[in-house]
Amino acid sequence: MRDYRQPGRAVSATVQPGSPQALHLIAMSELAGKHIVLGLTGGIACYKAAELCRSLVKQGATVQVVMTEAAAQFITPVTLQALSGRPVYTSQWDAREGNNMAHINLSREADAILVAPCSADFVAKLLHGVADELLSLMCLARPIERVPLLVAPAMNREMWTHPATRRNFAQLEADGATVLGVGSGDQACGETGDGRMLEPDEITEDLIAFFQPKPLVGRRVLVSAGPTFEALDPVRGITNLSSGKMGFAIARAAREAGAQVTVVAGPVHLPTPRGVARVDVRSALQMHAACMREAEMADVFVATAAVADWRPAAAADHKIKKDGSGQPPALSFVENPDILADIAQGPRSRAGALFCVGFAAESHDLLAHAQAKRARKGVPLLVGNIGPATFGQDDNQLLLVDEAGSRELPRASKLALARQLVAQIGQRLPKKVTP
Ligand code: CTP
Repeated sequence: MRDYRQPGRAVSATVQPGSPQALHLIAMSELAGKHIVLGLTGGIACYKAAELCRSLVKQGATVQVVMTEAAAQFITPVTLQALSGRPVYTSQWDAREGNNMAHINLSREADAILVAPCSADFVAKLLHGVADELLSLMCLARPIERVPLLVAPAMNREMWTHPATRRNFAQLEADGATVLGVGSGDQACGETGDGRMLEPDEITEDLIAFFQPKPLVGRRVLVSAGPTFEALDPVRGITNLSSGKMGFAIARAAREAGAQVTVVAGPVHLPTPRGVARVDVRSALQMHAACMREAEMADVFVATAAVADWRPAAAADHKIKKDGSGQPPALSFVENPDILADIAQGPRSRAGALFCVGFAAESHDLLAHAQAKRARKGVPLLVGNIGPATFGQDDNQLLLVDEAGSRELPRASKLALARQLVAQIGQRLPKKVTP
């Protein structure tokens, strides 16, 4: 059998291991070593499948495209061959296969079959085990326990909501396939509603998530992220350099690990990770209120936010003007509530129902400060990092401090570190009691 796998994008000899360039290359190779069969069925969303193919290849996957006859009405195999770098299969009678069994050969080589777009007609075929052309034949012939099937539906909104389609997708999931969501908005037919195929980068993110381990299935995770902004007057305020990237990476990693995730975010300009609920806040008081509320339902609280310790005692209603005296205005401050300490010392945490993780952004003596902070906040796990070195960066290095001691997570992308931290949290959670 041919081996289509290629090693992931190698970090070249001229790139220093652990350097920002090396970490960037690794971050761009989330699907390295994965061989994906990308199946296209008939639908206008086939034009997006070209971009999807490119995106999967960019993430380091090798991609074998298989198209139905209907898909070839919308986009040519030539385009997909150019983008995937390998000949496209469109027929079960493809004579290029020595044994003339493309459905067997191609399905056994795959780490996953991704059908995108997946038409209403195609899902109906999958359900009934109809196998009258190569792609449906492959889906039926794949070793079901080893080669997962993911589908990205794409259809008109009436077709999407039709009881037959609802029934079919529900049954497809019950049969073990993963049905990715659909987008909502303008449709090629001129109507507006649900049923558009997800965007290529959304499908890519979902596929990357699919391959991650799932230690947090059934858990609810709350993450606080970013800076807070404490208003001085309607146009000025006090904030800090936190970008929110570490918190958002943890939210994404927790979601990938199977959790239901909410991120309470201070003012940051970051896209919300797929499948994560987001509550936007500005001040520490707003963040405190939102976190206290959300923590009532959470199993895990990860406090990454750089919350302002102080806020102006009173924000001026109007812009503070110079009064000509040359004297700066007299500002007075009051202390903000400590969100992490309040939640960590609340009844649910004390009862062991809520596992709290704190962060410590320090400038020096990381271990000593992290140990002291862990004790002061009353959290089982505290993650230390050097704040000025990480604010706004895409990489970081962490020091995990718990009652057993400390352990370093060496420099890596924030997403890679977030995944390691999530795995550590998963190991520390009490086993879920299943009724
Ligand atoms: N934290 C919080 N609410 C605050 C202050 C901090 O939830 N008002 C959380 C942070 O999200 C972080 C941890 O507490 O998880 C430690 O934050 P940090 O700013 O490093 O510590 P401080 O308590 O502010 O201590 P110090 O400024 O003295 O280092």
